[in-house]
Amino acid sequence: MNRTTDNAAYTTNNLTGHEGHETETGKSMPPAETDSGNHTLAVHHIGYLVRKIEKAVAEFQHLGYTVRQDTVLDTIRGIHICFMEKDGYMIELVSPAANGSPVSNLIKRYKNSPYHICYTVKDLDKELARLTAEGYTAIDTPAPAPALGSRRVVFLMNPFLGMIELLEA
Ligand code: NI
Repeated sequence: MNRTTDNAAYTTNNLTGHEGHETETGKSMPPAETDSGNHTLAVHHIGYLVRKIEKAVAEFQHLGYTVRQDTVLDTIRGIHICFMEKDGYMIELVSPAANGSPVSNLIKRYKNSPYHICYTVKDLDKELARLTAEGYTAIDTPAPAPALGSRRVVFLMNPFLGMIELLEA
């Protein structure tokens, strides 16, 4: 989902001649760091809290987003979810279906707002262990996501960048 960004980054590097540039010692410099090193985490979507999902879908459509997957009810988490896309960027609109939903408190705090970036990972358990060892805290346990073909997801918190989601590839 981030191809557009990647291509733009490569174009910039080529124009500025950073790739394979010769240094004074004659040694070739490594290419500028873009996405070339680590493909372990691939951006899948940006999660977006909204109070009223139908209103939000209509407003995003006015901005040029298209619905990629109609609104579904995730009964595990008590939320409505709708996926929309624009320019290769996928957003996930999330609204609470009931007061007891885990996102009910989040929406009181954040209002209508982006609140997590979701990354696809090949090995969910391995990546969860790696990030936990690096200081992330899992805030739930891996569980199937009905809106994503029942692939497993898990949410983690980081003290410096907030919430992320991992999605099993
Ligand atoms: Ni998400």
